[in-house]
Amino acid sequence: MKHAGKRDVPHQRVKTVEHLTETARAKRRVQMANGKSFPAQSLSRGVAPRRPPICMLFEDLAQGAAQPTGVFGMYPAALIGKLLPWLRCARHEVLHVCSGGLPRGEGLRIDLRPAALPDAVADGRALPIRDGAAAAVLIDPPYSKYYARELYGVDYPLPSHLLREAARVVRPGGRIGFVHYLVANPPPGCHHVKTFGLSMGFGYPMRAVTFYEREQDELPLGGST
Ligand SMILES: C[S@@+](CC[C@H](N)C(=O)[O-])C[C@H]1O[C@@H](n2cnc3c(N)ncnc32)[C@H](O)[C@@H]1O
Repeated sequence: MKHAGKRDVPHQRVKTVEHLTETARAKRRVQMANGKSFPAQSLSRGVAPRRPPICMLFEDLAQGAAQPTGVFGMYPAALIGKLLPWLRCARHEVLHVCSGGLPRGEGLRIDLRPAALPDAVADGRALPIRDGAAAAVLIDPPYSKYYARELYGVDYPLPSHLLREAARVVRPGGRIGFVHYLVANPPPGCHHVKTFGLSMGFGYPMRAVTFYEREQDELPLGGST
């Protein structure tokens, strides 16, 4: 039986192999429009280029902008993510009232103390925000007069006052989350949705996370009166 030698290989096939070799050599670096080039090795192996690990929306985050220090009563790390389905909005849309040590880039942060480095220094009982402008509000005030005075050097804001103001700024149908030792009455124009117990672990008092929902505004009926 005759074995196929190099000369017996069909001409067309040899040309194809040579062509591939040349193409691979030529593609060793891929030239880009801006004059830069990158190795084509990953492409020839069928491996997609890697995506950069972080998408920077706010450059100042990368530039070491000042961040608040943690405060007593900070949220557990994963809490905000777990509350989002109840707040029914995107994380960056949450208005944080009494934001404490929440870092820059975490929604819109409002606190009475400049030392908390919030996005706006303001009283949660008189927010510089127009009616119905917030997708959702999350409030984490001091839980007692003693905590307000000793931990933050401020007056104790009554839950009813904070909730009334949150109900003004949240959009109709929007939700308010309230973290406290108390389960406060719903503010005017809102109804109670759900209350969860929040444990910080053994030896710590429980906190309640309560959600309220602002009623939808009544639709105008139209027609002449
Ligand atoms: C329990 S800490 C908030 C902690 C925050 N959740 C965290 O994870 O870091 C309470 C915060 O409420 C702020 N605060 C107290 N009274 C306030 C008021 N009337 N308006 C706005 N912020 C207030 C305090 O300055 C303090 O930073």
